[in-house]
Amino acid sequence: MSYQIAIDGPAGAGKSTIAKEIARRLGFIYVDTGAMYRAMALYLLKKEIPTDDPEKIRAASQKADITIAYKDGLQQVLLDGENVTAFLRTEEVGNMASVSSANPDVRKKLVELQQELASRENVVMDGRDIGTCVLPNANVKIYLTATTACRAKRRYDELTAKGETCDLAVIEADIAKRDHQDMTREHSPLRQAEDAVLLDSSDLTISEVVERILELVKIG
Ligand code: DC
Repeated sequence: MSYQIAIDGPAGAGKSTIAKEIARRLGFIYVDTGAMYRAMALYLLKKEIPTDDPEKIRAASQKADITIAYKDGLQQVLLDGENVTAFLRTEEVGNMASVSSANPDVRKKLVELQQELASRENVVMDGRDIGTCVLPNANVKIYLTATTACRAKRRYDELTAKGETCDLAVIEADIAKRDHQDMTREHSPLRQAEDAVLLDSSDLTISEVVERILELVKIG
């Protein structure tokens, strides 16, 4: 049996940084499910599918070929055979991902891929529905959150470090809107699994969060 660590929470809570570090420390693979939804969103944007047309989103999404590979231990997302990893973390793609990930057919396709990966490898998987839907029997479940202001500042720092010009107030509004969409959607909304441990990272350093999670991991 593979060992599964599920980390869910809203955008900007630090999930990917924390999950990557835990995977490195344990020698597990890190599965960034948000990147899969973002790759699907990129596909839909490229095909100019309107955000308000669920039937067109459903039909187009079934044609997208999304696969995962690992290069130097880092997850790469391939869309129709092309490595699109570098194009996924823009606000445009994130906003489209928030809309298209509400579509049940989009979710079904990507959840199958995630479950298949987790059945053969020890994983640290992050997303919105990992503990509740994708890996309901995960060995460790974490719900990682932080205040909206704190998460917006982190996203702002991340984008400006990459040379993108952005506005903190716009990012904060986007995050609040995305949280609302992710938490109120009909299918697999973001919520804390009953057996998940709640961690608020607002006043914790990355290594403090990592240590708290590692304390919960009991292997062997
Ligand atoms: O974590 P992220 O910002 O890269 O995620 C992008 C979008 O994908 C986010 O709005 C919610 C959605 N998502 C999801 O619905 N389920 C997941 N397991 C991961 C992400």
